[in-house]
Amino acid sequence: MGGNDRLLRAARGEELDRPPVWMMRQAGRYMKVYRDLRQKYPTFRERSEVPELAAEISLQPFRAFKPDGVIMFSDILTPLPGVGIDFDIIESRGPIIDPPIRSQAQIDAIHEFDPEAAVPFIRQILKTIKHEVADQATILGFVGAPWTLAAYAIEGKSSKDYAVIKAMAYSEPKMLHSFLLKLAEAIAVYVRYQIDCGAQVVQIFDSWAGQLSPSDYETFALPYEKLIVDRVKATHPDTPLILYINGSAGILDRLPKTGVDVISLDWTVDMAEARDRIGHHIGVQGNLDPCVLFGKQEHIREQIHAVIQKAGKKGHIMNLGHGILATTPEENARFFFETVKDYKY
Ligand code: CP3
Repeated sequence: MGGNDRLLRAARGEELDRPPVWMMRQAGRYMKVYRDLRQKYPTFRERSEVPELAAEISLQPFRAFKPDGVIMFSDILTPLPGVGIDFDIIESRGPIIDPPIRSQAQIDAIHEFDPEAAVPFIRQILKTIKHEVADQATILGFVGAPWTLAAYAIEGKSSKDYAVIKAMAYSEPKMLHSFLLKLAEAIAVYVRYQIDCGAQVVQIFDSWAGQLSPSDYETFALPYEKLIVDRVKATHPDTPLILYINGSAGILDRLPKTGVDVISLDWTVDMAEARDRIGHHIGVQGNLDPCVLFGKQEHIREQIHAVIQKAGKKGHIMNLGHGILATTPEENARFFFETVKDYKY
């Protein structure tokens, strides 16, 4: 059997026989094997930082569905303790950062990121995944972008309105910028490290940057996304970078300025219109509504085919428009992967 590098090639804009497919959050609670393992190892930090566990979880969807991409099991918050910000993820509450970052003194105390000292488990996770996946899928790394990481660190938890970080943006912009810059520098180092450890494509999640007005996006999110892309491209020009922002329809036209290779779209934008707005020289990923997987398989198939046809033959990676939801029937996740793999352009 030959190798499968469809995802890597699609991210580079090559024409293929069908689009590659993976799913955001493809390792996780909708899978029974994950829920069983979680009972035995109840803390998220343990599951994601003990390399044997994190690698095993990353491989669960690979064994079950053979997607074209295998993403390491981790979290966007994982590097934060490495710069001096501790966190926890609590069942049904989500991420908690206590105390939250609210003062210049706390920001001044943030230190440089040394991945080999702070996150040595990442090397082992990626190595173990590569050993089993071999050349049968592309290995994906990922990071959170500064705005989204700062939102968690400053709010201290998930937020609906982002009022605390926005209050800081509008009353103490210098302070917030000093924080965003420190995070961007750390994350650039972290992306390079993931690539050096075997990640072939890296996705940057700025999940909550879509909560900003377009001009605030240009002030508080885009420059730091771009700083990361510029630094990584300077040392690792051949590794494709994907950018995901939830709710990006109002700022889509600005996203190519970040310099990423692929833009991951949520489902609130029509795939063909998105292509026209961002230009056909840049790749796209997405953008099926995760809730489509709660419907009938006939409807799932129709919607998948519609996205693929609108995206066109080059530079499209099939995915959901956000992470798969925990209550999704596993057989519909399987149907999603199989429908895309059966497609022929
Ligand atoms: O895609 C994958 O399979 C890789 C794993 C992955 C996780 N988190 C594991 C995880 C990835 C790519 C992430 C990214 C992440 N984490 C983002 C960006 C993506 C997005 O959703 O926009 C964000 C915002 C976070 C922060 C975070 N971590 C939240 C909000 C939560 C709680 C979510 C919930 O539904 O309860 C987490 C915890 C988390 N990270 C879980 C998983 C599988 C669920 C916790 C569990 O296993 O019980």
